[in-house]
Amino acid sequence: MCGIFGIINDNNNQAATSVLEGLKKLEYRGYDSWGISIISETEIKIDKHIGKIGEAKTNLPVGLIALGHTRWATHGGVTDNNAHPHLDCTKKIAVIHNGIVENYQGIKEDLLKKGHQFISETDTEVIAHLIEEKSKLKKINEAIFETFKLLRGSNAIAVLDFKTQTIIACRNGSPLVVGLGNNQYFLASDVPAFLKETNKVYFLNDGEAVVLSNSGVKLFDIETEKEKKLIPQVLDWKLEDAEKGGYPHFLIKEIYEQIKTISKTTSINEKEISELARKINSGYKIVLTGCGTASYCALAARYFFAQQGVDAQAIPSYEFMPFSKFIDKKTLVFAISQSGETADTLIAVKEAKKRGAEIVAVINARGSTLERLADIVLSVGAGPEIAVVSTKAFTTQLSTLYLLTTAVANKYEEGKNKINRLGKVLTKWLDVQSINRLISLAKRLMDEEHMYLIGKHLNYPATLEFALKIKETSYIHAEPFAAGELKHGVITLIQKGTPCFVLASNDEIKEEVLSSAAEIKARGGLIIGVAPFESSDFDVLIKTPDLGDLTIFPNIIVGQLLGYYLGVGRGADPDKPRNLAKSVTVK
Ligand code: M6R
Repeated sequence: MCGIFGIINDNNNQAATSVLEGLKKLEYRGYDSWGISIISETEIKIDKHIGKIGEAKTNLPVGLIALGHTRWATHGGVTDNNAHPHLDCTKKIAVIHNGIVENYQGIKEDLLKKGHQFISETDTEVIAHLIEEKSKLKKINEAIFETFKLLRGSNAIAVLDFKTQTIIACRNGSPLVVGLGNNQYFLASDVPAFLKETNKVYFLNDGEAVVLSNSGVKLFDIETEKEKKLIPQVLDWKLEDAEKGGYPHFLIKEIYEQIKTISKTTSINEKEISELARKINSGYKIVLTGCGTASYCALAARYFFAQQGVDAQAIPSYEFMPFSKFIDKKTLVFAISQSGETADTLIAVKEAKKRGAEIVAVINARGSTLERLADIVLSVGAGPEIAVVSTKAFTTQLSTLYLLTTAVANKYEEGKNKINRLGKVLTKWLDVQSINRLISLAKRLMDEEHMYLIGKHLNYPATLEFALKIKETSYIHAEPFAAGELKHGVITLIQKGTPCFVLASNDEIKEEVLSSAAEIKARGGLIIGVAPFESSDFDVLIKTPDLGDLTIFPNIIVGQLLGYYLGVGRGADPDKPRNLAKSVTVK
């Protein structure tokens, strides 16, 4: 939540413009408002606006050093004044922030008594004034480290200091990464902001701070305030990964990228998968956890484990605590997350660790908090996922876990062949004809306000994920149910013409699902089959490839695509749905 981007030594002396361009790449992290601060000749100048960055330009003066922010509001409404950066009283210190300062009210009261003046309702502004207060007696670094130590909660802050012409940043819980370019230095909450300039990076750990100046980047331990050695890493990400590459939106680009990313999972993590299969076969319990889409991945993986005769629990991370007492040293907790920064997931993981469990991180983004907490990392290799709505991260997480379930049953090679075939079949299936059929369906459903979905067994988690895609991208109310639930109450919702998606595979339970579809049809529902077979119960069929237990992948991709086309048709921004942020780093 919230994007941070700063530059030291901008090559063109246009640091504000470069920061603005970088912020556009981070807008998925928050898009209520944005702001930039720049060191001009005499002072810090600020430009802040509410709304999305879009095609915005900035009138800030030229300069070498700038720091900016895209906001996802927590404390204080969406106003220009509440947008970051926030200045101290002398206007020589600008602060931006990602997180929540839980104890800001007490700090603010003290500062008010000392005569500080506040112009926003945010928790962040107290940080600027507290640093100002402390820097009266101390060097700026020390003042910032001391201030940071007083803040409660998960926070990352970045400070632009006029006097020393530096950017100083501290991390505890919210992500920060440094980019080391050619005589240019960058600070960001995610790599895409500066990937155009460098792939040489350092991900800050909790409790670390960096000082960026025109002579380079220094790393510090916040507690001891001592300098540490900074050892950078070189990422294999390519610039195209963070660009739209000719597509109108990141979401549709990322949906298509699944053709490659799903198959790629068969060539990574082999060692880790074999080690995990051995542990599971030696009697470890399995708990799968995550939030949102990742929790649906957990549930789908639970069905895949069951197919191989292995019991696994799937617990959404925000409901983890009541069940944590069952976790012990012989439990493998699979924490599934695109970002590796989701607060609820991290809380569950920390609790499981306390109870002695081994943590397996199933993650996409690298260098995250979750990756550091994990004992074993299954990195799913989907590359940067920029659209807020998760697609390729989900399918690569699920195919990775599917491969593990086959390894547990000594069928890893068979599993790999099936996933590779899935990739190939998707390439053929996603042709112009299929897409045109989906676009026509989207046009037909464009004005609907409610939709229902049913699925059974593996297709049940598929309906949850399908419905989430529709809701997030088009804002249509789409409610998923297990097919068996229908006659226990839900059927009251069906009226003449109500669209009902029926997700099914060509398996032994398809007749049961079709019976549920017939019950809806008898009450006037419009039945839209998403399945690899025809049926007289379907009023409309979106035919998906028959891939056995992997049919749920194309069934879910139909939901991704339909959500996208419905969203575009209804005028929503498919990359940045309202009220959402890409990584939810607050509880
Ligand atoms: O980064 P994570 O995978 O931990 O994020 C978890 C959820 O917040 C995320 O999947 C969310 O539900 C997305 N909006 C799904 O499209």
